Amino acid sequence: MRALTMYEIPGDPVVAELPDPSPAAGELLVRVASSSVNGYDAAVAGGLIPHPDPELPFVLGKDFAGTVDAVGERVGRFSVGEAVFGVVTGAFPGTGALAEYVTVAEEFGVSRIPAGVTPTDAGALGLAGTAALDAISAIAPAPGDVVLISGATGGVGAFALQYALAAGADVIATARPGPPTEFVQGLSGDRARIVDHAGDLLAQVRAIAPEGVSAALHFAGNGMELAELVTAGGRMASTLGFGPEQAAGRGFGVTAVTASPDIATLNRLAADVASGAIRVPITRTYSLADATEALADFNRGAVGKLAVALP
Ligand SMILES: NC(=O)c1ccc[n+]([C@@H]2O[C@H](COP(=O)([O-])OP(=O)(O)OC[C@H]3O[C@@H](n4cnc5c(N)ncnc54)[C@H](OP(=O)(O)O)[C@@H]3O)[C@@H](O)[C@H]2O)c1
Repeated sequence: MRALTMYEIPGDPVVAELPDPSPAAGELLVRVASSSVNGYDAAVAGGLIPHPDPELPFVLGKDFAGTVDAVGERVGRFSVGEAVFGVVTGAFPGTGALAEYVTVAEEFGVSRIPAGVTPTDAGALGLAGTAALDAISAIAPAPGDVVLISGATGGVGAFALQYALAAGADVIATARPGPPTEFVQGLSGDRARIVDHAGDLLAQVRAIAPEGVSAALHFAGNGMELAELVTAGGRMASTLGFGPEQAAGRGFGVTAVTASPDIATLNRLAADVASGAIRVPITRTYSLADATEALADFNRGAVGKLAVALP
């Protein structure tokens, strides 16, 4: 199979020919129809996630959508031919999903794609959608809340933006001028107030919310700076490791989110896409042959989700 492969870590991934994986007991072999780029892929390739002895060659890719091609022994929940999506779990799994085939454990991180969800959307939903939903659950936005989303232009932020607005909160979202701002305006139906994180963030947010914000979502930027804007009794969630210790003494709670793509979360995400409640914010779709370009574009700061679709 062809796969976006690392022969050394850190290093430059290449699309290479590798043996097809085969499912172990409890695993599904998925023929991948679509995947997407996540910060995790960039971090692994850049050597930012330490591992004493990574299994090489290593295939990148956390998100997947496709069809069950074979099942290992003792697989009971899924059958060959079913359309599935999810997240490859484990820090350094044997195979990744930016490939023609991936093996995944059936018990966690995989669910069925419901009617009304395209494989391309499903393949860009898992990790960023889960991180967004877990962060949203942590701050539980409601009408009357003012939620600051730092990193609203990224994949996680674009999902969280939609969920915060759907919960009835007022949203202040970071975006640079031009296409990133237009992206947030489009996704929010012009309901989000936009601040430029390249400028004076504190001053811009205080001009909108002089008392501060009741909740902040930290998907990019400086957590300490965001924490200064959260009112006492507020909430904050971070996918960047900013946690309770860093915000100690500030009078509000912080949750350091580790995305947990359990089946209920995946089902909720897929149902919300199927119903039109949220949109998968794909801004560009690449072929697997161009997956190195997708990763390079992600590293340059792309807006929304970058999908990688396979024929
Ligand atoms: N803990 C977990 O389980 C988990 C799960 C998923 C993701 N993550 C992490 O969460 C982060 C967000 O993920 P993602 O997939 O959304 O990444 P992404 O697509 O790279 O999004 C980050 C966005 O933030 C913007 N940005 C950069 N610097 C900023 C700043 N100072 N203030 C505000 N916005 C800024 C970037 O745009 P510009 O630079 O172009 O302005 C980009 O659009 C990543 O670091 C990822 O690794 C963690």
